[in-house]
Amino acid sequence: MKYIRSDEEIQSIREACQVAATVLKRLVDTVEEGMTTYDLDQLGRKTIEELGAESACYGYRAGNHVFPAYTCLSVNEEIVHGIGTMRRTIQPGDVVSIDVVVRYRGYIGDNANTVLIEPVADANAALIEATRESLDYAIGFAKAGNRVGDISNAVERFIKRHNYGIVRDFVGHGVGTTMHEAPQIPNYGRRGSGALLKPGMCLAIEPMINMGTGKIEMLDDGWTAVTKDRKPSAHFEHTVLVTNGEPEILTIPQN
Ligand code: MF3
Ligand code: CO
Repeated sequence: MKYIRSDEEIQSIREACQVAATVLKRLVDTVEEGMTTYDLDQLGRKTIEELGAESACYGYRAGNHVFPAYTCLSVNEEIVHGIGTMRRTIQPGDVVSIDVVVRYRGYIGDNANTVLIEPVADANAALIEATRESLDYAIGFAKAGNRVGDISNAVERFIKRHNYGIVRDFVGHGVGTTMHEAPQIPNYGRRGSGALLKPGMCLAIEPMINMGTGKIEMLDDGWTAVTKDRKPSAHFEHTVLVTNGEPEILTIPQN
């Protein structure tokens, strides 16, 4: 059966997701003005190592590009896949998206969160809240019998109430033994379209929402996606298990 994990695989993905969630929480709790994004990435590297896992980002290949960092750190106009650097110090008012993907005992856990550094602009707080809520709302549609398009449409419908841009160039995805498995989960789409959801599917759902246009540009590093208008962007992500009942969010830390 397509994209369906066995009970054993699910247990392994559950454990990988707990590691990913623990690392992400550590970074979210630590990030502050004056740190460089390199420092934050190094904390990610160490925490992943301490927990006996490895970064699924480090060494990840896309064409000729090899991802050089352990986490993805995307500040302000950076949307996703930002690379921590000693040249970037976290500033007052920054919008910091932190994306952690680990491999633990052969399985993947993937999650992301966006943190606001004081003093927080009201407009940024609203963007972050809407993005987080769009994820929570969409997760509610990750139910057996629904289709991928129901999740996608939920994000789009939720965000439509605001004047925000939905990023269309990147999508959520299935997770298993590799980071990006089928099905793709866009953050827009038609209700009732796409693959049928069945118990045992593990899905990384990840709205990327921009203050202004949804259009993106790529930086010369080949990885960092930025907003075309250089306005800020937010990103939240959970890995979710489709069950016979309510979806189980695997990347909520249990302890
Ligand atoms: N959560 C991101 C994704 O699903 C992680 C990408 S890691 C990178 O695309 F190495 F590709 F940057
Ligand atoms: Co992902």
